[in-house]
Amino acid sequence: MIKKNIVLIGMMAAGKSTIGFKLAKRLNFNFFDIDNEIEKSEGQKIINIFVDKGEGHFRKVEEKISLIFLEKKNCVISLGGGAFLNEKIRKKINKNSHSFWLNWKIKTILGRISNNNKRPLALKLNNKDLANLYRKRSKFYKLSDYKINCEKKNKNEIIKDIFKILQNENYFN
Ligand code: S3P
Repeated sequence: MIKKNIVLIGMMAAGKSTIGFKLAKRLNFNFFDIDNEIEKSEGQKIINIFVDKGEGHFRKVEEKISLIFLEKKNCVISLGGGAFLNEKIRKKINKNSHSFWLNWKIKTILGRISNNNKRPLALKLNNKDLANLYRKRSKFYKLSDYKINCEKKNKNEIIKDIFKILQNENYFN
């Protein structure tokens, strides 16, 4: 049976990839991590794409790859933290997917991304700027179908919350 995709959105370090991978296994769906697909397509790590070609180039590739993978069915897709701000990506998700915002307090996010040398924005921005980015982005993240409050929950509890919502939506019928 053809099912809408499940798309995970939210800030860097929200656990989109880890939760997405586990969720896909439980659903017996394919899992795609858009950041990984961008790296495969460009033959470079995200951090090097930002350094060599700039954020503008990254965002163009992010749009292209996201739109391709969002065409698939029966899969779980985790997006990069900035992708849902792109209107084309957001529109496509709203049309053919169930989107879940994995939401954490900014304090938790900051704690997780401090000293992370794989995330270009975490390297470039200080905590104040990252907190501003979080506030700005939350306005877009709010446009997703469901918000999961992840604070104080472990991975299995977060997955359980997503399952509960899908059950209520008759997703499994
Ligand atoms: C970004 C988040 C990263 C990656 C890139 C830009 C962002 O993905 O796409 O570094 O703009 O927040 P994660 O959210 O998986 O860290």
